Amino acid sequence: MKSKNNSDIDQEQIELLEYAQSRIKQKKNLYYHFVLFLFISIISLTLNHIFSISNNISFLSYSWSFWLIFSWFFLFLFHVFNVYVTNRFMSKSWVRKQKSNLIKLQKLKIENLKKEAEIESKIKAESEIFNKKSQLITIIVAAAENDVIGIDNKLIWHLSNDLKRFKELTKGHHVIMGRKTFESMPRALPNRTNIVITRKKDYLAENAIVTNSLSDAISISSEDSQPFIIGGGEIYKMALNISDRIELTRVHHNFDGDTYFPEIDAKIWRETNRIEKKKDDNHKYNYTFITYEKIK
Ligand SMILES: NC(=O)c1ccc[n+]([C@@H]2O[C@H](COP(=O)([O-])OP(=O)(O)OC[C@H]3O[C@@H](n4cnc5c(N)ncnc54)[C@H](OP(=O)(O)O)[C@@H]3O)[C@@H](O)[C@H]2O)c1
Repeated sequence: MKSKNNSDIDQEQIELLEYAQSRIKQKKNLYYHFVLFLFISIISLTLNHIFSISNNISFLSYSWSFWLIFSWFFLFLFHVFNVYVTNRFMSKSWVRKQKSNLIKLQKLKIENLKKEAEIESKIKAESEIFNKKSQLITIIVAAAENDVIGIDNKLIWHLSNDLKRFKELTKGHHVIMGRKTFESMPRALPNRTNIVITRKKDYLAENAIVTNSLSDAISISSEDSQPFIIGGGEIYKMALNISDRIELTRVHHNFDGDTYFPEIDAKIWRETNRIEKKKDDNHKYNYTFITYEKIK
């Protein structure tokens, strides 16, 4: 870089020197021209004068020297113009300078175009990542009227339709859960990719992938268009920010419990679907399937 700058300066200095030398030469030539012009003018006038006396010709016979001097004078004027106007503004070095300015401008344009292309490709790459990330991260939960979801690391109610819906929705997808929820189940959920989040570094979970953070769990499920967050309370709390949809089963009853689902903020979540169900022989409580979408 340093040597490039040095060579740039050297080149500039060489050009300046060359320009100064050529200007000196041009001015010297002009000076010689002027001297020659004076000399020839005097000689021609003298000769003209001598011949006119010897031939006894009228004053008009001076005309040849007059015309010579007159036309030469214009030649000289042209030379002056050439040196002080043409060569000054349109000399080779001037042309070179204009050229290098143009080249600099072109280089600048190319640089800008390159930068724009880089920015565009970056935006494209980011949007590709975004598109990849444009998974529908979905929370699935069953919560009581008072937001209770569990007690003593167990579920409280049994609603077969809710279980059926859970199976239908999550089948074939990634299911992401906290270590406690995983341990509350008899085994990993079949036909799904189970991901367990724990802070423990050496935790082993049968038929499940173990990770140490929610973001890692999302990365692992990046190929899944709709990974599900299936609980429990700690994980739901963390996942609300990054989720796009909530599939809630609202159980219309208040329960005692130790684990809660966070309040659903109506400013952030919009209800998009609601299916109300009445209690029956298999369902001890009224319940409603509600879908919320995050307001973008
Ligand atoms: N009603 C429903 O729909 C539903 C669904 C699921 C669960 N539940 C209920 O919810 C209860 C369990 O919920 P819970 O809140 O107690 O536990 P949880 O959310 O299932 O799991 C908590 C565990 O996750 C890990 N964890 C939490 N934050 C973490 C982080 N930032 N980084 C790494 N690991 C992290 C920790 O594991 P380590 O301690 O190993 O580090 C923590 O102890 C149970 O009663 C269950 O039955 C209800």
